[in-house]
Amino acid sequence: MEVKVRFAKEDELERINELRKQVNDLHVAGKPDVFKPGFGEELRNFIHVIWNDPEQEIVVAVSEDVICGFAVIHHIFKPENPFMKERDFLDIDEFCVDEKYRRTGVATSLTTFIKEYAKEKGFHRIELNMWEFNQGALAFYESAGFETYRRYMEILL
Ligand SMILES: CC(C)(COP(=O)(O)OP(=O)(O)OC[C@H]1O[C@@H](n2cnc3c(N)ncnc32)[C@H](O)[C@@H]1OP(=O)(O)O)[C@@H](O)C(=O)NCCC(=O)NCCS
Repeated sequence: MEVKVRFAKEDELERINELRKQVNDLHVAGKPDVFKPGFGEELRNFIHVIWNDPEQEIVVAVSEDVICGFAVIHHIFKPENPFMKERDFLDIDEFCVDEKYRRTGVATSLTTFIKEYAKEKGFHRIELNMWEFNQGALAFYESAGFETYRRYMEILL
């Protein structure tokens, strides 16, 4: 299957929302104490906030004119503070491959594109966070070369 990765166009945001719903449903099923069920208007409209933010870009994977995956990449700049040095990096905020297209290398093509873009822009670091229940995503991110460098822990009472 041939996959082309490029930046999204505005008229593709509705299709991207179909994929965002798949991620939201997965998060609701995996962590119902945190995520809101359904994929309401506020969450659907949030794609326009992303689209209009100059610090964020939406990347899509296209196969035979169908958007089969997408990612949101977000430039983050955190100034130095008493504990930490200045940090300037790309964060992958949202990432999904349509369930019909999984395990065919689409996500790998997306991360390859993002890595090239990050290098081109002079970034030295790409970061993302994920939910522990999502072991499929963890396996993918590790296969793409990401390493865990920090953890969130909890006790449910
Ligand atoms: C995680 C996800 C993006 C992977 O996309 P994908 O296009 O299927 O990944 P690829 O085909 O590029 O996989 C490359 C390699 O990663 C690993 N991998 C990917 N998905 C995996 C899974 N579910 N379980 C175990 N390993 C997995 C495998 O090593 C795979 O190589 P292989 O298929 O030759 O064995 C996709 O499953 C997805 O969108 N999931 C739902 C949304 C989500 O969890 N998003 C990320 C968190 S917000």
